[in-house]
Amino acid sequence: MYDAVKHFSLSGKVALVTGAARGLGAETALALANAGAKVMLSDILVADAQATAASIRAAGGEAQAVHHDVSSEADWERAIDATIETFGGLDVLVNNAGIEKAALLTEASLDDFRRLYEINVGGVFLGLKHAARAMRPGGAAGRGGSIVNLSSVAGLVGVPTLSGYCASKGAVRLISKAAAVEFAKLGYGIRVNTVHPGIVKTEMGVNVVRGLVAAGLAPDEASSDAYVQSMHPLGYGHPQDVASAVLYLASEASRWSTGSEIVIDGGLTAN
Ligand SMILES: NC(=O)c1ccc[n+]([C@@H]2O[C@H](COP(=O)([O-])OP(=O)(O)OC[C@H]3O[C@@H](n4cnc5c(N)ncnc54)[C@H](O)[C@@H]3O)[C@@H](O)[C@H]2O)c1
Repeated sequence: MYDAVKHFSLSGKVALVTGAARGLGAETALALANAGAKVMLSDILVADAQATAASIRAAGGEAQAVHHDVSSEADWERAIDATIETFGGLDVLVNNAGIEKAALLTEASLDDFRRLYEINVGGVFLGLKHAARAMRPGGAAGRGGSIVNLSSVAGLVGVPTLSGYCASKGAVRLISKAAAVEFAKLGYGIRVNTVHPGIVKTEMGVNVVRGLVAAGLAPDEASSDAYVQSMHPLGYGHPQDVASAVLYLASEASRWSTGSEIVIDGGLTAN
């Protein structure tokens, strides 16, 4: 009988999760380690990433942390080399690191817009490039694998105050599809998919709520919070809800999925 549950296991796999110091990245690193992966947590907040890695080890998992700014090509090369040297391979990359900047479009700065692109899109571009070089046949890891990119509901629908962020997450969605078909065509054995969460109350999610107040679109944080919650028919989700979707896409359970998008948004985009 086909054992579907077995295919969610990441036993023997090595994963690199960017932006893993806190929020969705930390929860994803925990979920992947719990499924059996050896996990490298990367972040600019390396002390926090180390603390999360220590908590994974304390729970019986295998995890280490590395300093990594996803907008730096040299940092990507170092983080991928460190992952392969430490754990003997690279099978899963989760491009999770990202930033948000709330502003009305008429007030937003070009510098902020460029920074959103540099990290949210440039970071994913560099991750796809260097992970694929390592994971494809003949690469330093060489076993193929799965790349999961964090887009957002803001990569599918417009959100007030988040024009630059929406643009960047829409770009993440399409660069992922382009990479997916290219890597499949070239026989790399590397799948690429996106995850589109609704608003989850990590540091970033709280900033989205505060941004509506700062932009004058909500009178105070409590009413903004109630409004944002009401955008989700199922109410707010939890980082674990996003981590479960990443685990599915990281694992062999999703072996026929590439260039696809999983929406985890409590019904926001169904409205
Ligand atoms: N929280 C949400 O509501 C939500 C919804 C949809 C999508 N997302 C996406 O999920 C991902 C994680 O979001 P989160 O809510 O956990 O955010 P967060 O702000 O809580 O955590 C983001 C992490 O990324 C790290 N980071 C930022 N810039 C970096 C850089 N240049 N290099 C390396 N690391 C960097 C931060 O230090 C932090 O640890 C992001 O890509 C975000 O856009 C979040």
